Amino acid sequence: MPHATVVLVVEPESKPRFVAIARALIEEIRRGRLRPGDRIPSTRELAAQQGAHRNTIVAAYRDLAAQGWITTSQGKGTFVTGQLDPVPTGGRARPLRKPKLGDPHRMGFSTPPTVLSAMPPRAVPGGRKPIFLDSGLPDPRLLPSALIARAYRRVLRNTGLLGDGDAQGWLGLREAIAGTLAAQRAIPCTADDVLVTRGSQQAIDLVARAVVRPGDAVVVEALGYRPGWDALRLAGAELIPIPVDGDGIDTAALARVLERRSVRLVYVTPHHQFPTLATLSASRRVALLASCRKHRVAILEDDYDHEFHYGTHPVAPLRSLDVDGIVLYVGTLSKVLAPGLRTGWVVAPRPLLATMTRIRSAADRQGDRPLEAALAGLFDDDTIGRHIRRMRRIHLERRTAAVAALTKHLSGSVRFTIPQGGMALWLDVDPALDPDAWAAAAAARGVAVAPGSRFTLDGTARPNLRLGYCSHDPGELELGIARLAAARSMARTRM
Ligand SMILES: Cc1ncc(COP(=O)(O)O)c(C=O)c1O
Repeated sequence: MPHATVVLVVEPESKPRFVAIARALIEEIRRGRLRPGDRIPSTRELAAQQGAHRNTIVAAYRDLAAQGWITTSQGKGTFVTGQLDPVPTGGRARPLRKPKLGDPHRMGFSTPPTVLSAMPPRAVPGGRKPIFLDSGLPDPRLLPSALIARAYRRVLRNTGLLGDGDAQGWLGLREAIAGTLAAQRAIPCTADDVLVTRGSQQAIDLVARAVVRPGDAVVVEALGYRPGWDALRLAGAELIPIPVDGDGIDTAALARVLERRSVRLVYVTPHHQFPTLATLSASRRVALLASCRKHRVAILEDDYDHEFHYGTHPVAPLRSLDVDGIVLYVGTLSKVLAPGLRTGWVVAPRPLLATMTRIRSAADRQGDRPLEAALAGLFDDDTIGRHIRRMRRIHLERRTAAVAALTKHLSGSVRFTIPQGGMALWLDVDPALDPDAWAAAAAARGVAVAPGSRFTLDGTARPNLRLGYCSHDPGELELGIARLAAARSMARTRM
């Protein structure tokens, strides 16, 4: 039986080649130009026709056979599988195209949620050695990656860990987190009070889904954390901004709002207010708890980088003062280790924690069990504790270097107070300078800093820059801040 005529349109850029050839054959079958029962060329013939190595065609046929498109009959040849239902379209062969996304309205899909905040454009630094001072993230070069890899390898040998697990998280890690929170944050809790999440982002999302109903009012800091706001908005929250100053969120303004209208949740970063780094004063902590207790409002406390507090003792979290069970406490390893490890947690009253665990299970089944088990080991043998103590020293050195470089290059143009902790500095910018234009000009010179507009609800401008100093060494900080100074002239609004 002669084989069918096959004219293949093989995507030249597709790699590996056997995949492209297999795809081209599938397209021929789908279009009905190769029909069920047709004999297709031998691997030798097709190799000659395509100018390919025979092994390439053998690999393509093996792939097609495994997918059920073709069958080989010993001594007879290779055939298009009998029961296929090709889609005859006629016409000339056309190259494979990526499927087009249909018009969401016409297809009945919803459009992307418009509630998500419009992100002000992020200026990405160009040049030879880009320096990123626009985040408050740690230096990935200092991560104890060999120790993490060893711990991960060790737990992977236990294949039992690769099965289904507890949606609340690996018990050993929950125990380690609860122990750390009890010892270092005076939060009375056990493993049963902790839900391990993929970073604090998932923790905030779960709180939002469990607590917020569409249309609920949620109070946020007027300068704040956009990813957290987005999670709240996705749950249907209407965000009400309350001003922040050098003592954190203005609790008198909050009390006035709570007197006036019904609010479901208050989202705050009391320890190092994001992005201003202000620590919520003791009197405001008490006032915040009292107002929320009086009006039966839950508090979402984001304690994202409490590990990096220098000089004085860290300030106790709201959760440690909460006798009514209204504080939902969120933490993360993103600042301690790396954001890519996606590990965080939420501590909440047990019935609510059970609801969040149930929601997590519906959306995500469970976390990364081997990673959670590896991290538990790293807590237990104090690898994480040692790393935090080392990084605290290094961050402090870097902060000193950043302050020295700012004083050398930019005194007169920016003012700042040195915060009690955190991983960034919040700069007040000379009113004659436009921070957005300055950040854009700095990016063109190879350094990224975050203008104040990044942290407002509607992206309106603010006379500030935020400068994260932890992810670069002192030499890089000096270079980055010198570049920032060199870009200053482009930011002048008046002479
Ligand atoms: C205010 C705040 N919360 C939480 C986080 C950490 O987020 P995640 O744990 O999702 O990486 C950050 C990190 O940038 C932050 O700035």
